[in-house]
Amino acid sequence: MSTALVAIVMAAGKGTRMKSDRPKVLHEIAGEPLLGHVLHTLSAVDLVETYVIVGHGGDQVREMLPVDVRVVEQREQLGTGHAVDQVTPHLSNFGGQVLILSGDVPLLSIDTLQAMVALHVESEAVVTLLSTELPDPTGYGRVLRDGGGRVIGIVEHKDATSDQRAIREGNLGTYLASWPQLREALAALTPNNAQGEYYLTDAIAHLVQAGHHVASHLTDDPLEGEGVNTRSQLARLQAAYQRRTAEHWMVEGVTVLNPETTIIGPRVQLGRDTVVEPGAILIGDTTVGERCLIGAYSQLRDVTCGDAVEILNSYLVDATIGDGTHVGPYAHLRQGATIGRNVRLGNFVEIKKSSLGDGTKAAHLAYLGDAEVGANVNIGCGVITVNYDGTKKCKTTIRDNAFVGSNSNLIAPVTVEEAGYVAAGSTITDDVPAGALAVGRGRQVNKEGWVAKRKGAQPVSKE
Ligand code: UD1
Ligand code: CA
Repeated sequence: MSTALVAIVMAAGKGTRMKSDRPKVLHEIAGEPLLGHVLHTLSAVDLVETYVIVGHGGDQVREMLPVDVRVVEQREQLGTGHAVDQVTPHLSNFGGQVLILSGDVPLLSIDTLQAMVALHVESEAVVTLLSTELPDPTGYGRVLRDGGGRVIGIVEHKDATSDQRAIREGNLGTYLASWPQLREALAALTPNNAQGEYYLTDAIAHLVQAGHHVASHLTDDPLEGEGVNTRSQLARLQAAYQRRTAEHWMVEGVTVLNPETTIIGPRVQLGRDTVVEPGAILIGDTTVGERCLIGAYSQLRDVTCGDAVEILNSYLVDATIGDGTHVGPYAHLRQGATIGRNVRLGNFVEIKKSSLGDGTKAAHLAYLGDAEVGANVNIGCGVITVNYDGTKKCKTTIRDNAFVGSNSNLIAPVTVEEAGYVAAGSTITDDVPAGALAVGRGRQVNKEGWVAKRKGAQPVSKE
């Protein structure tokens, strides 16, 4: 028996009860599509190939899939057995094992998956299924066992007798199977049942009757097999997911003060002694180093932070931040903002597609877009890089040790050379030479007695 493993993810279902234009598997938990969670879990096992079976909204699903995932279309949804059978033409010479999962079951854990693979190989079973004892198994297929406790089949809820409905062990819809035998069993399926579908679960009884051994892995966490069919299930699983990830990170030495309000996606990495405050959202490819503070209501998507970074109530998408840097409150970083070490970015500072060198400060109310800013630069309050001329974006360069006075406009393309100074309130249209002071504003004129003259009468009283 070859242990080479191929994954088949069923994702063709419509998800009618979601009442959505989006295919169900693209609805998100912790910023990640349901299908993304499944693929993330799969990344923990060695696979020869992954097939995703798409149907409803197939093109949208295809778009989010990594290039190495193979997509197979199931034109009509004739049941789970029919769905898996769609890969048959692609696996005609495959003699290994297939791992079958549903794209709408996001909480299957890596530990369980690995335990199933180990059990399957060790027990030399032809099929290994995942089941659990459910307080209310309504809707689930029931696992049928003989007097010796051996699995002999699965009966769907709608086809079950009242005695069978009393069985509490539910089939969670995740399987490992030896492909050559499963393929034969799929070919023999008929839709003679309450739903008129080709049930994958019927293959189990078929294989048992042919004399094969079916193993089962019982999990004590029913959430591992819970699919998303409605928006309220989505919210319930989101809440369960938050508790689970917070627990994981707390075990790793991260403080998560309030798991109920904290969202940490599956691809996020957090370092020891980092503190995540209530309301923080960390999603996508986000990595946070050690001893960082991710303050309340901050949102980070695809962000990389070094160590000892502080982020207070800010919104960051696609940004990189060096050690010891402080961001916020109320800062907005985006589109490849690359911030050095020990930088200070204060309230109402927006940084887009710009890099800032070590030790640079922009403490209040500034916009830096398409800018390359050196080290130890001081960006005064209210500084704006005027990067857009109505047709194209232009670059601003500010070299090391420069000082840009408050409320200045830097009309790009423009360069402030090393240690150049810009006087507060300037509008800078020409490059500033190294070490020079640029003053780009009208000189102040005081007109004595002007107010009184305008009123045509006596000087204003000083009450
Ligand atoms: C299935 C199992 C049931 C189990 C339950 C666990 C069968 C017949 N029944 O029932 O024993 O308790 O899962 O959740 O397998 N899909 C396709 N194409 C199809 C039909 C389904 O891709 O033609 C996909 C769906 O999108 C979904 C998955 O397969 O991701 C499961 O299908 P679903 O209809 O939800 O199965 P259940 O009726 O819940
Ligand atoms: Ca069904």
